[in-house]
Formats: sequence, structure tokens, C-alpha cells
Amino acid sequence: MDKGGEMVVDIKKNQRSSETKKLDDAKTMFLRSLGEVTEKRKSAEGKVTGVEKIIEELEDLGRKLFLPYPHSLEKTTKELYDYKAALLNMLEDLNESRIKLEESYKELAELDKMKSDFIQIAVHELRTPLIAVKSGVELVNTGELGSLTSKQKEALGLAEQNIDVITALIDDMLDIMRIKSGKIGLMKESLSIKELVGLVANGLKPVFVKKKQKVTVKIPDSVSNIIGDPYLLAKVFNNLLGNAIKYTPDNGKITISAEDDGRKIHCAVTDTGVGIPKKEIDKIFDMFYVVDSSMSRKHKGVGLGLAICKGIMEAHNGKIWVESNTGKGSTFHVTLPKNEVKK
Ligand SMILES: Nc1ncnc2c1ncn2[C@@H]1O[C@H](COP(=O)(O)OP(=O)(O)OP(=O)(O)O)[C@@H](O)[C@H]1O
Ligand SMILES: [Mg+2]
Repeated sequence: MDKGGEMVVDIKKNQRSSETKKLDDAKTMFLRSLGEVTEKRKSAEGKVTGVEKIIEELEDLGRKLFLPYPHSLEKTTKELYDYKAALLNMLEDLNESRIKLEESYKELAELDKMKSDFIQIAVHELRTPLIAVKSGVELVNTGELGSLTSKQKEALGLAEQNIDVITALIDDMLDIMRIKSGKIGLMKESLSIKELVGLVANGLKPVFVKKKQKVTVKIPDSVSNIIGDPYLLAKVFNNLLGNAIKYTPDNGKITISAEDDGRKIHCAVTDTGVGIPKKEIDKIFDMFYVVDSSMSRKHKGVGLGLAICKGIMEAHNGKIWVESNTGKGSTFHVTLPKNEVKK
């Protein structure tokens, strides 16, 4: 064996001898304690001393430590049972309330349906005589049934305007009821957004010309057709442009644009009008919501237009949202699925 090998053996020998010594020492100590305990036991002669005393003290301590546990466990178990009973009672009450609520909900839903049906019939029935009234007024106003003074013509003109307002309101109510009941019959046609917007802008020309507003249509010819219902989509743009005109002061600017956004067509109606306060932005698409301002009081809108637009956009799998700065203007955005088939 070489020198290195001897050294390893020596170190192991030394370690082993020191461990043996420790074990021997522990053994001696243990035997000595055992001897002492035995001695004490012998010398006690019936009296409790030494080890027994220690044992007794430990038992005492054990009793003190562990006795309360069975007691508190029992208490806790009882409390848990009480809680369980109370919870079961609550569940029973909740179940009863749920049944009552379900019954009330059913009743309310039936009443709501009855109310909607009634309004729908009433509104629909109003429309027909109103058309007859309008034709009658128009006929008298032409002078075919006898000549009229300028004052009479003026009064009939005003009556005609109001008949138009009521007819538009009736149409809005019929539309919103169709949308709400999910009975919105959708035609799906390939439509040129440029043509659609052009028609709507033309229809509103007398109104924005009167307000000396500049309306610009920025839609490149290259923009793809969209797929949708011409009557309903015209209604959307009519309301968006109509609102832009209403809520923009005289001499303001309005721009209608559209661009290809990959799979969709993105349209925007921007105005330089009064804008919409931030806290109202989420509410304006709700039925009958009108922002309280001098402008809306002047125009007396009923707040159905945007709710109808939202319903129509949802039926088209499209989106509608608004960005606005109070006092600076608003932009209403609309996205519509485009017709993938080339024009
Ligand atoms: N371009 C806009 N600029 C400023 N406020 C607007 C604009 N468009 C809509 N609003 C606000 O949102 C509200 C809701 O619009 P919505 O078109 O639903 O109702 P309306 O125009 O008041 O009435 P309706 O369209 O039923 O005749 C309006 O009353 C107005 O306060
Ligand atoms: Mg409107």
C-alpha cells in the first residue's frame, strides 16, 4: 500500500475510535442514571420521591393540558350541529323564495308580453289612419279641393310636419319592438356603402342645408360591398347622420367615411357638435335615454334612435360605439361584415 493509502486508513481509524469513545461515555452515563433512579426508588420506601414524583408531575401536567380538549370538542361539535340546522333552515327559506320569485317572474313575463303585444297592435293600428290623414292634408294643401290662403297653407304645412314626426315615432316603436322580441326579419343583400350613405345624405340635405352645415362623404370607390338589410342599415345611417345634424350647431362640419378593415368595413360619422359627457357615453344606446342638455331639450328626441341602431347592428353581427369630446364633437363608429365575393 502506498503512503497516501496508509493516511486514509489512519484517519478512518481515528474517527472510529472517537465515535466508540462517545458511545462508551453515553453508556456509562445511562447506567449511572439508571443506578441512581433504582437507588431512589429503593430509598423511597413508599414515599413518592425522585422519578415517581417526576412521573406524577408529568401526569398532572398532562391532565391539565389534555382534559379541556374533549370538553371543547363536544362543545364545538354541538355548535356545528346548531349551525348546520340553521343553515338548513336558511336553505329551505331560500328555496321557498326562489319558487316565489320564479312564479312572479313568470307572471311578469306574461304581463310584459301582453303589454308589448298590446302596444304593438295599438301602434300598428295608429299608423294606417295616420297615413290617410297625411294624404288628406297633402291633397287639401295642393289646392285641388279649393284655393287656400297663405295662412291656411302654412298651417297645413305644419300639420304635415307633425304627422311625419308621429309616423317616424311609430316606425321607431315598431322597430324597437321587433328588435326586442328577436323577430327582426333580416334581408341579406350585397350593398354598396357609398350608395347607401349617398341616399341617406341626400334625404337629409334640406335639414343640413338649412343649418348651413358642411357634410362630406369620404368613401373610396374601392371599398368592398357589405352584406345586410338595405332598409335597416339606411335607418342606422339616417339616425347617425340625423343626430350629427341635430347635435351640431349651425355652420358645423360632418364627415361620413368608410374604409376596408380587413374582414370588415369600418364606417365613421364625425361631427363638430356639442359632444357627449363621458359619464353618459354608456347610456346613450339604452332605450329612451336622452342626455339632458339645452340642445336635446330643443330637439325633443325620444331616445330611441341609438337603441334601434344598436339592435340593428347586433342583428348584422356588426358593432357600434362612440368616441366623444364635450364641446368638440363626436365620432360614431360602425363595423359591418363585408361581402367577400368580388364586386
Ligand atoms: N352626434 C351626437 N352628438 C351629441 N350627442 C348625441 C349625438 N348623438 C346622440 N347624442 C345623444 O344621445 C342621445 C340618444 O340619441 P338617440 O338617437 O337614441 O335619441 P334622440 O336623437 O334624442 O331621439 P330619437 O333618435 O329617438 O329621435 C341623444 O338624446 C343625445 O343626447
Ligand atoms: Mg336620434
